[in-house]
Amino acid sequence: MCGIVGYLGNGSAVDVWDGKCFTDVNASGVDARDGEFFTGVTSEAMPVLFDLLKKLEYRGYDSAGIAILNDENGEIRTFKTEGSVGDLISITPELGGRIGIGHTRWATHGKPSTKNAHPHSDGTGRIALVHNGIIENYAEIKDKLIESGHEFRSETDTEVLPHLIEEYYDGNLESAVRNALSMVRGSYALAAISVDDPGRIVVARKDSPLVIGLGDGGFFVASDVSGILKYTRDVVFMNDGEIGVITDAGIDITTLEGVSVEKKIETIEWDPEAAEKSGYEHFMLKEIFEQPDTIRDTFSGRISADGIDLGVALPNVRRIVIIACGTSYHAGLFGRYVLERFARIPVDVEIASEFRYTDPIIDCGDLVIAITQSGETADTLAAVREAGSKGSQKLGIVNMLGSSITRECQCLLTRAGPEIGVAATKSFTSQLACLLLLSVQLGKARKTLSTADVNDFVYELKQMSGNIQRVLNSAPDIRKCATMFADADQFLFMGRGANYPAALEGALKLKEISYIPAEGFPAGEMKHGPLALIYDGVPVVAIATKDPVYEKTLGNIKEVKARGATVIGIANESDTEIAKYVDYVLRIPDTDPWIAPVLSSVVLQLFAYYVAHHRGCEIDKPRNLAKSVTVE
Ligand code: F6R
Repeated sequence: MCGIVGYLGNGSAVDVWDGKCFTDVNASGVDARDGEFFTGVTSEAMPVLFDLLKKLEYRGYDSAGIAILNDENGEIRTFKTEGSVGDLISITPELGGRIGIGHTRWATHGKPSTKNAHPHSDGTGRIALVHNGIIENYAEIKDKLIESGHEFRSETDTEVLPHLIEEYYDGNLESAVRNALSMVRGSYALAAISVDDPGRIVVARKDSPLVIGLGDGGFFVASDVSGILKYTRDVVFMNDGEIGVITDAGIDITTLEGVSVEKKIETIEWDPEAAEKSGYEHFMLKEIFEQPDTIRDTFSGRISADGIDLGVALPNVRRIVIIACGTSYHAGLFGRYVLERFARIPVDVEIASEFRYTDPIIDCGDLVIAITQSGETADTLAAVREAGSKGSQKLGIVNMLGSSITRECQCLLTRAGPEIGVAATKSFTSQLACLLLLSVQLGKARKTLSTADVNDFVYELKQMSGNIQRVLNSAPDIRKCATMFADADQFLFMGRGANYPAALEGALKLKEISYIPAEGFPAGEMKHGPLALIYDGVPVVAIATKDPVYEKTLGNIKEVKARGATVIGIANESDTEIAKYVDYVLRIPDTDPWIAPVLSSVVLQLFAYYVAHHRGCEIDKPRNLAKSVTVE
């Protein structure tokens, strides 16, 4: 996820040198400046910004940049690179100035490259700006700005912001930012500086985090507190819809409408490691809790009153073949249900590592969809290439822009942000969300869904983020239940229809982080073999949300109960019957049956997490597993 930083020094020296901060080796194998001028204390912005950027590296990024405003000679100098902060340090000459901004970019609009890296400028070089988030209506704004003579240099959505600010600038950076923001839809945390209004940094926030630190050496701006803690523990958290002006005199915060806001200075007690995880004990837990935001990002700019527009060309095909591995394969199985149901296209789902060995019959009438978080999974990449060589059309559903698969085919980005925990969580729910969007868009185009169906479904999609939040609010109940079963020898998970992939994913999450053998089954298949695994007290997790096969699932629950299983049911909030059939109930909000598996998956992620936590497992790095599997 992108990181933004800023610093306004007050002239007193701060200690940026920690003995190892700048000793890394850059991409060309050259020691990155290795403390050449970062020895000890400084009152300059550049070393502080590099230090803050280093602290944000854990968030994941593909390019970096800084801009320093020298308020004595009135110029902004900007340096950017595709690569690491170490690379940035090695290409940046010594820049004098006590005010500056910096950025680590995680590409969403426009590939990773130096020109797409932030800070972006208005073209005159008099304004520089860094931004996290997505400007949904950037294309229409960009067209208008081009018409009025603005020249754009990058493919990013962000670049419209400095141009808009320049358009509104009349001697006051704050009001120009305010006016510019009144034109944009989307999410942002931003920091802007201007040579025409020196001595200040203007910051703003909507749906993307931003914090300001108040230290002895000046003011520190960052996407999270992890970098700031070295300098100060006193911080102000910006809220949505607020603009802040940072000057030597202090911080002045107002709403977008210009109403003054009284902010509380908070003192952070976390240690730096806890700060990287925003206070969560593990990255996996943090990523599970990020899902209301990541789902909002997945939908951002893609759902409107007219329906759904994913911005990718969808060919008219006879058949869809989904190829993926692991968790992404489970998303693919879910995709089959929704694509066949909504778009009435036949769908096959293939495990990527097996795909080539069937000598697949595939041609230009097929659309191959590769689903992958990393975009680097060797089996998936090889399968996509094989399908392409046979003439099939290709689409990637990918989280990492710039990854190998994004270079093989047109891609629909899941926008879940970097996932650091090895176990996939937020990337999975964003994959499901993308598949739902794709199915509805295709269904509308193929007229297999009526306008009324589309409108109803879009309404439900818009509730998804809030509904995930409600599931997260029930984490203490899920924890209590998980802890009761943490010593079990094995688990079975079952579900029918679109809940079957969610059951498979629930079992995979549990086994990979808790090491307890766990299998997922279609509930109707139990009687054909897996029932032999049932013995007195064995835990069975049954997904029994309200859908057309609900009654049948209750029948399958009775089968395992009759043989001694202890059943944990996942059911809708309004389901008053379920408690008669199962031993424990975990709830999800009432929603469309095709959306319920997304919510049930969040319950199962938390369930797996708390079982593993109780067993003292190493959750973020399970044994023998890697985040990106680049070998076949
Ligand atoms: C499980 C998990 C793996 C990945 C699989 C594919 O939690 O993360 O099963 O889903 O290795 O990886 P991607 O999606 O990067 O292709």
